[in-house]
Amino acid sequence: MKKFLVIGFGLLAFCQSNYAQVNLDNRIEEKIDSLMAKMTLEEKVGQMNQYNGFWNVTGPIPEDGDASNKYEHLKNGWVGSMLNVTGADEVRKVQKIVVEESRLGIPLIIGFDVIHGYKTQSPIPLAESASWDMEAIKASAAMAADEAAASGINWTFAPMVDISRDPRWGRVMEGAGEDPYLGSQIAKARITGFQGEDLSAVNTIAATAKHFAGYGFSEAGRDYNTVDVGTSTLYNIIFPPFMAAIEADVKTFMNSFNVLNGIPATGNAYLQRDILKGEWGYQGFVVSDWGSMAEMIAHGYSKDGKAAAESAANAGSDMDMESYLYVKHLKNLVDEGKVSLDKIEDAVRRILRVKYELGLFDDPYKYCNEEREKSVIGSDKNMEIALDMAEKSIVLLKNENQLLPLKKEGMKIAVIGPLADDKNSPLGGWRLAAEDNSAVSVIEGLKKYKGNKVYHEKGVELIKGTEAFVFELDINTTDRTGISEAVEVAKNKDVVIMVLGEHGFQSGEGRSRASLDLPGLQQELLEAVYAVNKNIVLVLMNGRPLTINWADENIPTIVEAWQLGSKSGDAIAKVLYGDYNPSGKLPMTFPRNVGQVPLYYNYLSTGRPKYPGDDLVFWTHYTDEVNTPLYEFGYGLSYTEFKYDNLKLSANSLNKTGELSVRIDLTNTGKYEGKEVVQLYIQDLFASRARPVKELKNFKMITLKPGETKEVSFTINSKSLEFYTANNTWESEIGDFKVFIGGSSNTILESKFTLKD
Ligand code: BGC
Repeated sequence: MKKFLVIGFGLLAFCQSNYAQVNLDNRIEEKIDSLMAKMTLEEKVGQMNQYNGFWNVTGPIPEDGDASNKYEHLKNGWVGSMLNVTGADEVRKVQKIVVEESRLGIPLIIGFDVIHGYKTQSPIPLAESASWDMEAIKASAAMAADEAAASGINWTFAPMVDISRDPRWGRVMEGAGEDPYLGSQIAKARITGFQGEDLSAVNTIAATAKHFAGYGFSEAGRDYNTVDVGTSTLYNIIFPPFMAAIEADVKTFMNSFNVLNGIPATGNAYLQRDILKGEWGYQGFVVSDWGSMAEMIAHGYSKDGKAAAESAANAGSDMDMESYLYVKHLKNLVDEGKVSLDKIEDAVRRILRVKYELGLFDDPYKYCNEEREKSVIGSDKNMEIALDMAEKSIVLLKNENQLLPLKKEGMKIAVIGPLADDKNSPLGGWRLAAEDNSAVSVIEGLKKYKGNKVYHEKGVELIKGTEAFVFELDINTTDRTGISEAVEVAKNKDVVIMVLGEHGFQSGEGRSRASLDLPGLQQELLEAVYAVNKNIVLVLMNGRPLTINWADENIPTIVEAWQLGSKSGDAIAKVLYGDYNPSGKLPMTFPRNVGQVPLYYNYLSTGRPKYPGDDLVFWTHYTDEVNTPLYEFGYGLSYTEFKYDNLKLSANSLNKTGELSVRIDLTNTGKYEGKEVVQLYIQDLFASRARPVKELKNFKMITLKPGETKEVSFTINSKSLEFYTANNTWESEIGDFKVFIGGSSNTILESKFTLKD
């Protein structure tokens, strides 16, 4: 019988009020008690220590990080977790050391960045987010968990739930984009996908909500840079996906590299103790980011490693990833009274809890099964899931003259661009376990359609020399020798498919860009080809929004294909040939100019918006660029067309306990069956804090046959109108609201209602 301990936080006015309830399994708590009674202080500290494997590295190695003593530490029970050890056999080896040679045999929890797939790669998370399809996203995460768990791993450092409004930041590829509501839904889908219904099952793994907090707001989009945000942004924009993650029972959190308002997240007691473990009642554990504890010295916050360990432990960082500081200093800090034993025990309890929940104490080798590893990884079923996700992630940005879908027969097609035959870039920036060059390229995908003749020319190389996950790429800005051949091939073809964008390692960690233009010589190539053939379908592969104004003005058809993973080329070919009608919508604004960044749909109005008829200069704008984006949040076309009509509210007011419904008619007025993401936005017109001009509050995915009409309705209640008010409470405030429905954040239909007491 499970006995639940329910900790209520009724006094803390809290957005999702039932969400701070914590369910603890009493049987597990008792087992933790009896194990902890046997543990020495060193062994307790050991649980808080995480080492990288002996081989793979996903960050800089600390100077005194001596791999040779890891084996001794494992034997002594001074290691609670390892990361980057993969494969059933390798994991068994390290697990065996602690289980058989350490005094108490406490199994390791084995972490890995299973970000968008394990070996079988799904689209990068930003791309998946463009699907707005929570079932598909959940299935993709479950597939990744299934493969990783068959390979010895039981903990992923995903999902990254950082909201970001800055496409210069390379890690936008790893997130869900700019919107806290969409980001929260996606966080939940990913977590339930990874963790499943039963964490102790052999095909589910613990998830991590990262990076707590503010990492997506690095100044100027430069990775690892300073973050300075006010209460409203922190609570209303940054926190919601983390809160949603707790709702989805995420087992762990990771803190972040950045300082938040002057204090490094790793040493930040306000974030980790007051908010996360205090207000939110979180019972999982917090792992530091790679080396972030030691980095507090470089931040100018800790004078040395010992001081960093003291700050981190006191602030609530439960596990040290690769700083080697807890194992070195924590025992002394307790002996000296600088860190209390209670805090250590609280951290250890949290870590052991997850290990028990995973079932590691019942069978430490349960994830190490070579047979399962062989049959699960890369299975046809998993490839199907990756393909399905890839199709759903594609966003049609422009389709003038209905150049798409392509006819299946009798055409001569030129395929041009450095990414057309690239089998590596579609795997994206976080594909640690994937085989290099294992994605289906666009050329390969297109050639499966035999009715047309395909001619291929690269035109330009995107990079010079070799590529690597950890080194700078050498972008080609000088070698134009292939352009004339590409131009020749483009002549006299019915259509030219140009595959341009970013290299797979041009986004991701440490990959910020100051320019959002097509890198290297690709713009030049595009214009040269356009001069001889205007029937161009531009297929973009990129890990972030790009500034593609020239293309938008001149190229008739543009398809946003991100980095779509193992089945990339197949998904792109299916969309180009109309075997999948694109349904994706942008999860992030595409600016016209990098100077507009940060540019996002849910901005505050300012005191000087543009008033019609006023031509003075004194309003919020640029003198050399418009304020609007090139493609707005929520935007995406289909081969068919949808008409939005008849917005009606069930009442023009509601009170705090009531609800109202808002409905529209959606009609497919085009020629194809299609799927539309119908989006509901609201605006709180006056409030104790200025509120955004629009906020996404709900969405539904509707499939319609040509000519078909369906009623689409949403419910609005006072809870859905809550925000973090100027009184520092989660509440809705009475007053007038606007409601909008449309196929993007640039909505057409709107109405009004009033929230009363
Ligand atoms: C990243 C984390 C990642 C960790 C482990 C860090 O550099 O910021 O997101 O999980 O490395 O690989």
